[in-house]
Amino acid sequence: MRLNHRLLSSLTLLSISSSHVSSASGGPPYSIWMADSMIAHGVSPTRWYNEAFFSRAIEAVYSATSLSTYRLFITSQIDGILNSDGSIRGWESDHQLDNIRVGSAILYLYTLTGSSNQKYKTAADFLYDQLVNQQKRTASGGFWHKDPKYPNQMWLDGLYMAEPFYAQYTTLFSNSSVAAKAWDDIVLQFDLVEKHCRNSSSGMLYHGYDESLKATWANKKTGASPHVWDRAQGWYLMALVDVLDWFPVAHSGRERLMKYLTSLAQALKVAQDKASGGWWLVMDEPYPGQKGNYIESSGTAMYTYGLLKGVRKGYLDAKEFVSVAERAYGCMLDKFVARNGTNGTLNWEGTYYTTVPVVENSLLGVSPFVLASVEMEAYNKARS
Ligand SMILES: *[C@@H]1O[C@H](CO)[C@@H](O)[C@H](O)[C@H]1NC(C)=O
Ligand SMILES: *[C@@H]1O[C@H](CO)[C@@H](O)[C@H](O)[C@H]1NC(C)=O
Ligand SMILES: *[C@@H]1O[C@H](CO)[C@@H](O)[C@H](O)[C@H]1NC(C)=O
Ligand SMILES: *[C@@H]1O[C@H](CO)[C@@H](O)[C@H](O)[C@H]1NC(C)=O
Repeated sequence: MRLNHRLLSSLTLLSISSSHVSSASGGPPYSIWMADSMIAHGVSPTRWYNEAFFSRAIEAVYSATSLSTYRLFITSQIDGILNSDGSIRGWESDHQLDNIRVGSAILYLYTLTGSSNQKYKTAADFLYDQLVNQQKRTASGGFWHKDPKYPNQMWLDGLYMAEPFYAQYTTLFSNSSVAAKAWDDIVLQFDLVEKHCRNSSSGMLYHGYDESLKATWANKKTGASPHVWDRAQGWYLMALVDVLDWFPVAHSGRERLMKYLTSLAQALKVAQDKASGGWWLVMDEPYPGQKGNYIESSGTAMYTYGLLKGVRKGYLDAKEFVSVAERAYGCMLDKFVARNGTNGTLNWEGTYYTTVPVVENSLLGVSPFVLASVEMEAYNKARS
């Protein structure tokens, strides 16, 4: 099922006529332009994390514009996957953190519509149970990324799939004794990744680790995988800035989360490609600049967004990081935002997807570009 055509054309018209700020190119602001373009290209309602991530970006556009079409879009995406009793269509009983990501969009709609809409609460309860009670854990308590496919493995990606949902659910629904345990559990997930995946000399994090040390790629001491991938670190950065939205100020773990965020941001500043302003797909030495490696768009967009949100929320120092984000944003406009879509739409280029080197209009790149644009536009407006 695709978004119906009437809604689609009203979106494009609305955004173009309602835009009081325009992009440097004279079109609507990039946040709106890219969001509307992607909706026009077609985004199916599915429960997968890719579409759920796009809904997250549309939340930000809705917050910035208050245009009801965006709220309608998220509602149609989520209602498209829920039965009226709140059960999730096409649920499979495999346990993987990727399945939890949609929970954030469900909680978002719950907070917009209030407790009158029981199906969102039912769906959120189900996902919470899947995560907290059903997901297998490593011996030290880390969630497996996928059961049964990746036993005893934590991946950076999983932190974004699960922890923002876990944190928001805890804030909304858990009593103090359950919440106290949950905050410890949430910060433990980050602590484990830091302990096993962070390279203290580069400041960057490997893609994941195997606590059993059995995987062929696992470092014999830490269990870490051998490479630093830009998008994996992007998921991790976004997990940090989003979990901090909910994490209690009085909990001692908050300071650690802030430290993890700051040291990652500093490492990203050092790793930023001087020539382009973007970041390499494979980021560990000696790969940046080598043949076959390239400046990758989804990771670049995630870092731009994470840094700008971190600055806006006061977690990161504006003097140190805004210029990094501005250079990266310029890189994206230069290299990845293409104005050759049909009917005045934008295209997004340069996102790698597993073995396919580059795909056009990948939601994994479009979504963080929209998020980064909302942040950049808000920053510029506040400054002007
Ligand atoms: C808190 O919630 C849990 C789980 O719903 C429940 O078992 C427990 O009795 C509650 N504790 C208090 C003090 O209300
Ligand atoms: C950590 O990063 C440094 C600097 O890039 C590198 O020389 C070193 O080999 C890395 N350590 C591991 C365990 O990969
Ligand atoms: C848009 O242009 C880029 C390069 O500028 C190209 O890679 C891409 O295929 C084009 N897309 C369409 C739909 O023409
Ligand atoms: C885009 O433009 C073409 C040609 O002008 C038109 O046939 C088509 O319906 C348009 N598509 C959308 C989604 O508006």
